[in-house]
Amino acid sequence: MTTRTTTKTVTFAHERPDYEVVGAIIEYFKQYPDSCHHPKEDIIYEKFKALNPGRAASITDLQGEHREGAERLRRVARIIDEVINDQDLLRESVEQIVRDFIDSERKHIALEDEVIFPAMGDATAGHQGQAAARPVHK
Ligand SMILES: [Fe+2]
Repeated sequence: MTTRTTTKTVTFAHERPDYEVVGAIIEYFKQYPDSCHHPKEDIIYEKFKALNPGRAASITDLQGEHREGAERLRRVARIIDEVINDQDLLRESVEQIVRDFIDSERKHIALEDEVIFPAMGDATAGHQGQAAARPVHK
């Protein structure tokens, strides 16, 4: 059975979300990670790719990851905007989009902290004039 819902019935843990807080979280992701943090990581990753292209290619396409994260953020912003504007939405659709964003962000941060940043640190260590990459999520 599919449940149709509106702003008044989309809930987390049986309570209506505080959409002011949800909106502030979305705005934070737009203002900081998407506009400031990820572009800096992309610049550092390009230097890593230049130093060790094979290793970089075997890990991931970091810029691609960031583009996909930005698209997931746009989907969350759009669906929350629709909820706030009383669009008739499937509750499962809203939850799936929000859950996909949260899960993907966690996986992305774990990949950077556990794989990408250590590899960048290894690649840049010992290069004169190159500052060793350090984890930026800690
Ligand atoms: Fe990142």
